[in-house]
Amino acid sequence: MIRETTDAPLLRRNSFHVDETAARLIEFDSADDLDAVFGRGRPEVWYALGGGNNILFTQRFEGTLIKPAAAGIEAIGEDADSVTIRAAAATEWDDMVAWCVDHGLWGAENLSLIPGTVGAAPVQNIGAYGAEAADIIHRVEVYDTHRREHITLGKADCRFAYRDSIFKHEFRSRTVITSVEMRLGKRPAPNLAYGDLLSHVEARGGASLRNIRDAVCTIRRGKLPDTDILGNAGSFFKNPVVDRATGERLRSEDPSCPLYPAADPAKCKLAAGWLIDRAGLKGYRSGRVGVHERQALVLVNFGGATGGEVMALARHVQSVVLDRFGVEIEPEVNIL
Ligand code: EPU
Repeated sequence: MIRETTDAPLLRRNSFHVDETAARLIEFDSADDLDAVFGRGRPEVWYALGGGNNILFTQRFEGTLIKPAAAGIEAIGEDADSVTIRAAAATEWDDMVAWCVDHGLWGAENLSLIPGTVGAAPVQNIGAYGAEAADIIHRVEVYDTHRREHITLGKADCRFAYRDSIFKHEFRSRTVITSVEMRLGKRPAPNLAYGDLLSHVEARGGASLRNIRDAVCTIRRGKLPDTDILGNAGSFFKNPVVDRATGERLRSEDPSCPLYPAADPAKCKLAAGWLIDRAGLKGYRSGRVGVHERQALVLVNFGGATGGEVMALARHVQSVVLDRFGVEIEPEVNIL
């Protein structure tokens, strides 16, 4: 079934709590409903909306927001080492992680408590604590609005990279993700190399699935603002990938500058949060928006701010970081 709303209010549909509207919102229950939505003439401008956790509306959306409504998780296959599950697009990502932990399945636990839906996860290849969605995604089922058919993409087809995938490029405004298949391990495979995760897990008594999930949840709750209380979209900026010479220059200026390996060995990844923090902007406030006081990567709406106010702050942060370090940082959040 399809539910259509015109002049749809978006305040409760985006974690930044921006009070905009969309000309049209279509919610659909099953993947087959998309034939009806796109068969009767493709909406010219449309955007697939998940939980609205990684989006900034800067104006009224003069198009159609397409939103899946079906949620649910099922095991669809099993071999000696793994279990494959399918989760419908509107399933809360963290409900899926909890399901895996409850069923003793490994691979999703480091991605606990990331806000958003399963259908949104492949788009920016969500990640945290040394893991990313691509590590467990097996296949992605989509509706191709150009060919008007349902297709299944293998993991390689999705071209996953750091906070990136085909869904941000060729398939942007072309496909709607309807469900995601994930392959989880049956044997213990703790991944505790990131930051202070190991010490948090050890303090809980060792590397069980439950302890890892609890540790990740505790670390996240300590650093990241609760979107129910303070409007935000998690990391506003991506960690910038720069050439090694730039990384080494920054490291020689300040030995505490974090440098991470990048996919290209000639490059390295910097911590945008560190750059913003060292540029003196952590906790900076401008009217109704600001840089979060505990995690400089997160821009927050203290209440009532427009998307334009958030963007003005983002541009300020970008220019201060560029002046101070000569490094450009780019938004990770989708800006509409
Ligand atoms: N740092 C600071 N000051 C800050 C923030 C960070 O000095 O205000 C330093 C930290 O001390 C650390 C480094 O920067 O040395 C990296 O910080 P952190 O471990 O908090 O991770 P991050 O790079 O800031 C990334 C993801 C997060 C994810 C965390 C944990 C991106 C853009 N962000 O943040 O993802 O939760 O790692 O793995 O890659 C999100 O995408 O919305 C998100 C929250």
